[in-house]
Amino acid sequence: MFRVRPFVLFSLCCFLFWSHISFGNLITCSGIVPMRYRSDKVSIADFGGVGDGRTLNTKAFREAIFRIQHLRRRGGTLLYVPPGVYLTESFNLTSHMTLYLARGAIIRATQDTWNWPLVAPLPSYGRGRERPGGRYMSFIHGDGLRDVVITGENGTIDGQGGIWWNMWRQGTLRFTRPNLVEFMNSRGIIISNVIFRNSPFWNIHPVYCSNVVIRYVTIVAPSDSPNTDGIDPDSSSNVCIEDSFISTGDDLVAVKSGWDEYGIAYGRPSSHITIRRVTGSSPFAGIAVGSEASGGVEHVLAENIVLYNSGIGVNIKTNIGRGGFIRNITVTQVFMENVRTGIKITGDTGDHPDNRFNPNALPYVKGITLKNIWGVRVQQAGSIQGLKNAPFTGICLSRINLHGRTGPRSPPWKCSDVSGAAIEVSPWPCAQLTSPQQTGSCASHF
Ligand SMILES: *[C@@H]1O[C@H](CO)[C@@H](O)[C@H](O)[C@H]1NC(C)=O
Ligand SMILES: *[C@@H]1O[C@H](CO)[C@@H](O)[C@H](O)[C@H]1NC(C)=O
Ligand SMILES: *[C@@H]1O[C@H](CO)[C@@H](O)[C@H](O)[C@H]1NC(C)=O
Repeated sequence: MFRVRPFVLFSLCCFLFWSHISFGNLITCSGIVPMRYRSDKVSIADFGGVGDGRTLNTKAFREAIFRIQHLRRRGGTLLYVPPGVYLTESFNLTSHMTLYLARGAIIRATQDTWNWPLVAPLPSYGRGRERPGGRYMSFIHGDGLRDVVITGENGTIDGQGGIWWNMWRQGTLRFTRPNLVEFMNSRGIIISNVIFRNSPFWNIHPVYCSNVVIRYVTIVAPSDSPNTDGIDPDSSSNVCIEDSFISTGDDLVAVKSGWDEYGIAYGRPSSHITIRRVTGSSPFAGIAVGSEASGGVEHVLAENIVLYNSGIGVNIKTNIGRGGFIRNITVTQVFMENVRTGIKITGDTGDHPDNRFNPNALPYVKGITLKNIWGVRVQQAGSIQGLKNAPFTGICLSRINLHGRTGPRSPPWKCSDVSGAAIEVSPWPCAQLTSPQQTGSCASHF
């Protein structure tokens, strides 16, 4: 008789588990934005660019991009940045271009904070995110563009953010710090095979954009660098983020849509956001929604996420005065190790732009599905704390196992003003989440 040895069974089991996570039908962001081949190519060297780490290349970048913008070539133009360190002030991209960083190419931001140009505040924030008034323009900026690619052979965009982090620490910032890369009102954007290092503030910020693909990127900043979020899709739709490593001083990916009364008035949601195969470490959250979500956030899928040495694994955060909605959010296939809190869904996070926010503008949180989440060395499994006058509903937790350092007993979950279901969750969450009688998953209603 044929005998199956335990080892074979064990291997098969592991294979099925891991194949589901790593090798099963590899779904990708391809197709959201067509990849462009550009036959017209120019090099930054043709415009006087010098990669010696000292020469200021602002004029070279601005002239090269001016040429691309005004001598419009069929199919657009590729701007090649050869190996070397290219110091420059901030610059704007233009439509139908590829910024191509060769292997060993570094585009490095100057530290001249006094001459850094200002731009208007985002209407959905009403002011700069950290200081009133305008905000410093992003190091690499794009407004009203289409068909833009930033790619290459894993060259680096270096924000040299230290000087900005110190201004924040010392309270000497006059305006909100610059993002490393921001696209506003743009569509058809691809960012791939690039390393982002030491952003002054958020790293990659697509705001009021659609059809954005970010893949094969590495984003790194020290864990104590303030507000260096990895990727913040903000009031944007059809954003796909995949196969990336992010380790920064704030949330790795945070889906946003504006701030309190300004975000409510602007009313532009983030929707159809996909995040998959992202690995990294954050002192705050791995995958976050909010806390600025006043225009609404819906149809978010995050899957195959690996987090280690982090503050919070999955964090959905909003506040009184935010208004908006957070609905149809699914986070699945997450592995986390050495994390302070596994899952945190809360209605009391973040600050307000001013005291004109409407205390009756309550967020509506419904239809959050978290499943297949496995954590080891998790200090606190989770907490779900809705708002008294706006309870969070349709919260579905399924197949979740979050355990602490010292064996199977973690501190209990904290729940309030929440309803939904829990299936195979260990440690057991709380009485507010019911265990549905039928097997299978808890259907999310929103
Ligand atoms: C870059 O774009 C910003 C915002 O659109 C604009 O205010 C600024 O004048 C532009 N800078 C240059 C050098 O074109
Ligand atoms: C760039 O880095 C990514 C992510 O680490 C990797 O998958 C890719 O193969 C690298 N690409 C090149 C051209 O070296
Ligand atoms: C929920 O969001 C997912 C994307 O994560 C989308 O595919 C699905 O259609 C959405 N469901 C509904 C009912 O809109």
